[in-house]
Amino acid sequence: MCGIVGYTGERECAGILVNALKKLEYRGYDSAGIAVFDGDRLSTVKAKGKISEGLEPRLAALPRFTATAGIGHTRWATHGEPSDINSHPIGNGRVSIVHNGIIENYRRIKEFLTEHGYGFESETDTEAVAKLLDYNYNGDPLDAIIKTVAELEGAYALGIIFREHKNRIFAVRKASPLIVGQGDGEMFIGSDVTAIIEHTKNYYLLEQGEIADITKDGVTFYDVHRNVIQKELQQADWDASAAEICGFPHFMLKEITEQPSALKKTLAPRIKDGMPDFSECGLTDEMLKNYHHIYIIGCGSAMHAGIVGKYIIEGLARTPVIVDMASEFKYRNPLLTKDDLVVIISQSGETADTKEALNLANKVGADTLAIVNVVGSSIAREAKMVMYTLAGPEISVCSTKAYTVQTAFMYLLAFKVAYARGTISEEEVKQLTKELMEIPDKVQICIDKQEQYQKVASRLMSADSLLYIGRGLDYALSMEGSLKLKEISYIHSESYAAGELKHGTISLIEEGVPVIAVATQQELFAKTASNVKEVKSRGATVIFICTENMPSLGGDVDYEVLLPAARDILMPLVAVVPLQLIAYYTAVLRNCDVDRPRNLAKSVTVE
Ligand code: AGP
Ligand code: GLU
Repeated sequence: MCGIVGYTGERECAGILVNALKKLEYRGYDSAGIAVFDGDRLSTVKAKGKISEGLEPRLAALPRFTATAGIGHTRWATHGEPSDINSHPIGNGRVSIVHNGIIENYRRIKEFLTEHGYGFESETDTEAVAKLLDYNYNGDPLDAIIKTVAELEGAYALGIIFREHKNRIFAVRKASPLIVGQGDGEMFIGSDVTAIIEHTKNYYLLEQGEIADITKDGVTFYDVHRNVIQKELQQADWDASAAEICGFPHFMLKEITEQPSALKKTLAPRIKDGMPDFSECGLTDEMLKNYHHIYIIGCGSAMHAGIVGKYIIEGLARTPVIVDMASEFKYRNPLLTKDDLVVIISQSGETADTKEALNLANKVGADTLAIVNVVGSSIAREAKMVMYTLAGPEISVCSTKAYTVQTAFMYLLAFKVAYARGTISEEEVKQLTKELMEIPDKVQICIDKQEQYQKVASRLMSADSLLYIGRGLDYALSMEGSLKLKEISYIHSESYAAGELKHGTISLIEEGVPVIAVATQQELFAKTASNVKEVKSRGATVIFICTENMPSLGGDVDYEVLLPAARDILMPLVAVVPLQLIAYYTAVLRNCDVDRPRNLAKSVTVE
């Protein structure tokens, strides 16, 4: 995905655009650029690399723009390597655009335009759109846009400016997100609210097939038949400060420390008289009693939350739960029927793979429940039911508080399904729910033990590869630990069912190979302890993460991280914190860009 911004108003726009892009850099940072109305021309400045490395120095070397309208882009490359020429904005002097998404038929469009005399400088799919707009433009921007989008296949959010229509910005989208911000005598576009929140909390959600025609005095929305559309103004429910780093060295550390409050904010409003309450989305016990299967779909950390969900829902409610990574779900022709419930988990609510899974579920007629962090996001709007996690904006590319509150929702759902199906009593549900609400304090205890994780990180920082092992819920959780380490420290790791190790993968163990073993499940402890001995006896360096009331393994482990005790089933919410912070400190020691790891973006809005 990438970040799109636009501004038109009374103020000089170059600085506004660059600062807005910085707020969106977590969406992609391969390159960045702006295009502004500069006298009677469109001036574009763009550069490979992060904003501070490329765009800002390039702008500083130029005379200051006095333009009051323009567009900007921070890129996550899909077509064409990160380079100056493949950076956005892309145009030809008459029109300039910024694009989030993938144009799947761009080659055919380029062939058509080449036959009509157009040349192409970049390797991007986006340039085909810019040139097609130019081809269709005969002085009427709306007409050009309508004709152009009618030809496009794939996903796009476009910010568009035409040289002959000074200080007007046009926006149109399909599948990729875009909002129109309303300020006081100034207007904005952005990929999400983070881009505009410091200027205004008021915004319109641009829907698919709508075209926004924006001047500093306001916006007119049209459909593709040029009918004017009236839209409801939304208001963001958080302040700019929530998206600020507030003195932390990285957003990731800030967001890890926010987990106790994020859990309380997410859980408390969904508990009434001691029982999980899903009335805000309309999910009833009657519905839960009748579903044949529950599917849980997501990507990355969101999927990992779903895997923990599978263990606890099946364990408590004895209901079959199928977890799929979204990118596989649609293409494996699942046995999904209208009698199933599909739970869609997504922090951003814009992940293309996950949206495709939701589209399939909707097509089959299954009930859909979205668990999403970004209010008003596409998945939130396209699901039948939505429950928002209330973690606040998560800026760091890697998921921490979002994973934790998503997992917390799995518990609420598990308790409700089990109660609806009569596998646990009201009294048991109330006890479990009460203990769930005690978890944030235990999370805080883990957060406060940072020096332990720094010590472990110093041992891992030079590793080439390592294993995370566990059984049951500990195995489910270790998947998230492994992903965290890989994505921010670039050390290869793999999560492995501890009991499965001896069936092949244990051959990887030799002197000094780090193994992080998670043991929080009483009934599985002895078995996991045996697996620890197996790897230790072959030279592994063992980091043992276990509940404080478990027997010590003494010399069989090299580092021991003790967790405050809670009911076994709740321990993933506690044990995830050391895994997050071990990954964090390892990445810091390796001088990695913790919040913006290479090749990644916060939400992948392309399949
Ligand atoms: C997790 O650390 C990653 N950033 C990534 O796996 C993420 O969880 C995944 O892309 C899903 O994103 P979403 O929750 O916004 O849909
Ligand atoms: N497909 C466009 C490109 O590669 C946009 C990518 C994105 O959405 O980040 O430049």
